[in-house]
Amino acid sequence: MARVIFKSVPDMSKARNRLEKPKTIRDDVFVPENVKKFAEGRSYFVHTYGCQGNVRDEEVMGGYFEKAGFTKAASEEEADLVIINTCAVRENAEEKIYGEIGKFKKKHQADKNFTLGVCGCMMQEENAAKKIMESYPYVNLIFGTHNIPNILNLLSEHLDKKKDLVDVVSFAGNITENLPSTRLDKYKAFVNITYGCDKFCTYCIVPYTRGRERSRAKEDVLAECKQLVEEGYQEITLLGQNVNSYGKDFHDGTSFATILEEVAKLGIPRLRFMTSHPWDFSDEMLDVIAKYPNIMKCIHLPVQSGSTSMLRRMGRRYTRESYLDLVNRIRTKIPGCALTTDIIVGFPNETDEEFEDTLSLCEDVKYDAAFTFIYSPRKGTPAAAMEDNVSEQKKHERFDRLLKVVEAGVVFHSSLMVGKTYDVLVDGPSKKDPEVLSGYTESNKLINFRGPASLKGTIVKVKVTEDHAFSMIGELA
Ligand code: SAH
Ligand code: SF4
Ligand code: F3S
Repeated sequence: MARVIFKSVPDMSKARNRLEKPKTIRDDVFVPENVKKFAEGRSYFVHTYGCQGNVRDEEVMGGYFEKAGFTKAASEEEADLVIINTCAVRENAEEKIYGEIGKFKKKHQADKNFTLGVCGCMMQEENAAKKIMESYPYVNLIFGTHNIPNILNLLSEHLDKKKDLVDVVSFAGNITENLPSTRLDKYKAFVNITYGCDKFCTYCIVPYTRGRERSRAKEDVLAECKQLVEEGYQEITLLGQNVNSYGKDFHDGTSFATILEEVAKLGIPRLRFMTSHPWDFSDEMLDVIAKYPNIMKCIHLPVQSGSTSMLRRMGRRYTRESYLDLVNRIRTKIPGCALTTDIIVGFPNETDEEFEDTLSLCEDVKYDAAFTFIYSPRKGTPAAAMEDNVSEQKKHERFDRLLKVVEAGVVFHSSLMVGKTYDVLVDGPSKKDPEVLSGYTESNKLINFRGPASLKGTIVKVKVTEDHAFSMIGELA
């Protein structure tokens, strides 16, 4: 008898589907009896890779497990139920997953009740589940990004049938509200405002792994944020693959500017958002950001490339000129606003000229921080089918050159900070030295300074004394 039941497997053509109207589901959480019994005295741990969207999914899964009666284990080594929450955005994100799964072989041999699940974006790729189930006979559950609200039923079926299960649906996606959740931080929270992505940049797997772009109802977002304010949270980050698109699917004039303003008015001390696509960043949004002191003046604005011809091949819908014009508008309306970005080097057939355009754009803009990546072909995306005439060596050389330019921008901003005083939201004692606290400024710079642990979760004034480029040393002012 087969060990594994494949209930559903992903299909890239269905993942591309954008025709369905998303439903909002508001069911109460149901805990099957056998899961309740199994959870008694047992603990869970979720190991998350990837972006903030996955972090939020971890919190929701934790919510389901705790409703069932599991407690949270201090580490994955101690847990009776481990879930590996994967990312598929680049090849190297995926390679790490195999090593991580392999770690649990011994644990499985020692404890027949130990349960291992794998979920997240990588599971939405065709054949990933099959490959994992074949190579790792101790994986018990595989489920996709759309299947999270069903995890307790899946676990119940696994316990009942004593079979390993794969349940990964590909579809445009619904919105589930009333999600249980155990937040990972007491002071900083992520709140989803949109799910999925409809941009289909030619290199990117996310629209296939996360489904169509769909906005949560304004009332649901506001209710979640209001509760966080009441619980004493200091910072909310509104999340979406492209927050600018918020509300467009309602066709009633609701926009990202509307929701941003309404959340700001709830009085959260710090409000952030990510990610903004440079393509539909409205002046209305800029006006709201400028108007509210609690909206942090720090915008993550992924450019990907500084070359118009490359941007066209990437399907990014803006040009070098329109991007630079937006940077200008931001800096005029919001003086001192920090800008951060993402850049891809080595997209198929990148010419020297196109790469130089990226370097010169970075020199012009001088980002406060930039995440740089070497292009990684993702099966099923249009770019993965493009022939490429650039060698790996050249890609790495370009990557190193880009890092130097990016670093110069970071140093430019950080050197200006020395001697000035900033508001810092204290995360708590640093890992290396319990007497040193660390926290972030409005522009997301990390500052380490001496102070009592009791300051954790408060916003304090810190004077910067030393510049270490990617982090600062300071003293309580
Ligand atoms: N929605 C966000 C980003 C999501 S992915 C946005 O549009 O900005 C985060 C970053 O990963 C992207 O900005 C891009 O720089 C990078 N990325 C995505 N796909 C990639 C690929 N195939 N290879 C290398 N980097 C990639
Ligand atoms: Fe990917 Fe582009 Fe969507 Fe960002 S906007 S998630 S890069 S497809
Ligand atoms: Fe990775 Fe999925 Fe996020 S691919 S970056 S975890 S949306």
